[in-house]
Amino acid sequence: MIKLNEKFLAPFVSKEEISSYEAKVSGAHEKIINKTGEGSDFLGWYTLPSDYNKDEFERIKKAAEKIRKSCGVFVVIGIGGSYLGARAAIEYVKSSNYNLLSKDTPNIYFAGNSISASALNETLELCKDKDVCVNVISKSGTTTEPAVAFRVFKEFLEEKYGKNGAKERIFVTTDKARGALKSMADKEGYETFVIPDDIGGRYSVLTPCGLLPIAVAGIDIDEIMAGASLAAKEFSVCDLEENDAYRYAVIRNILYSKGRKTEIMACYEPSYQYMSEWWKQLYGESEGKDGKGIFPASVVYSTDLHSLGQIIQQGERTIFETVIDIENPKNKLFVPFDEENADGLNFLAGKDVNDANKKAFLATVLAHSDGNVPNIIIEAESRSEKCYGYMVYFFELACAVSGYILGVNPFNQPGVEAYKKNMFALLGKPGEENEKRKAELEARLS
Ligand code: PA5
Repeated sequence: MIKLNEKFLAPFVSKEEISSYEAKVSGAHEKIINKTGEGSDFLGWYTLPSDYNKDEFERIKKAAEKIRKSCGVFVVIGIGGSYLGARAAIEYVKSSNYNLLSKDTPNIYFAGNSISASALNETLELCKDKDVCVNVISKSGTTTEPAVAFRVFKEFLEEKYGKNGAKERIFVTTDKARGALKSMADKEGYETFVIPDDIGGRYSVLTPCGLLPIAVAGIDIDEIMAGASLAAKEFSVCDLEENDAYRYAVIRNILYSKGRKTEIMACYEPSYQYMSEWWKQLYGESEGKDGKGIFPASVVYSTDLHSLGQIIQQGERTIFETVIDIENPKNKLFVPFDEENADGLNFLAGKDVNDANKKAFLATVLAHSDGNVPNIIIEAESRSEKCYGYMVYFFELACAVSGYILGVNPFNQPGVEAYKKNMFALLGKPGEENEKRKAELEARLS
């Protein structure tokens, strides 16, 4: 379904360098399968494609059907790992214009992924005069951004449908026992789905966290799990020659050790944009700690060849690219013949626009390689559900292995707390520690 192409890496990474990582890879592999590494309480994603909760999976499908029948707008409230994977799936498998397409599934709006009053107001405006269902997703059940958005949408639904009517339209995805959201769901009687204890937010797209919104969009979640399951099987071997996920993890570590501090994920299909957003969170939160980590960035080509292309070609040589080459993009479109040929493009007449896109890809890989930018190519078979599931598992596994090779705990995110502490203090959250911090921060701000 996806394959690593190392053709353009030869000047930057040698076969011997890759082989020299064998012991480190075995170490990382052991940590995952024997649960002996840091963060080993969060390895549930590793076996998820085979041991996911089948009863809950069927309940997700039923809830998705109910949602599809009862609303024109489905609002998904969540931030970080609690929305990026679902949005990535909808855009990758369907379209980045999903909401604008004519379809028999609801429009899907994502809310609670910022604290912008304007963004929330705009989403509310889009819900006016529409039948609406809401899925609030928070593993911890205490994250401020989705909690604020949920307050707003709960009030909106209760005013529109009454408390009992709203209850039928609110779906909660959270921890099985902990958190304010779980307590509220129990008290109000909302239908609830569980993000397993041993799966952290950014590894949770194949749990109900991602699967419910994905299913509402009419995407076949059985196929997604089949793709993930195939990947789990194919990438279970600890053999650096065979295992592309492990090779990807090693190659990026080698490049990092040679001063390549930024990895730019590139794709020539705009529908991949949110896959890159999901990947950035996965890798950034997993590896960026203890003063280490590759900075994950992304571009959409050829769009960004007219924006960031210059700096990628000739700027500081601290970057490398991971380029996703989708072999079977969904549609074909042929360039029309034009009598006047004012733009001189009749040599393209009758050719598929995909061919031009492919040539842009090849031309750019060669140019960037000449410009001393290492290019890792990942060939993806298609935009199918199965390929999506396969790719998710590939990147999750590679991320865990890469983090262990780097020497960090790939499953925690202690740095995320810093802004939260300050924000709560500045907002005046009660408590002695908050008051003290508030005074200190205000002195610094004045
Ligand atoms: O990967 C993570 O754990 C985070 O990015 C979370 O997904 C994000 O902070 C949202 O957390 P929660 O689902 O608890 O609201």
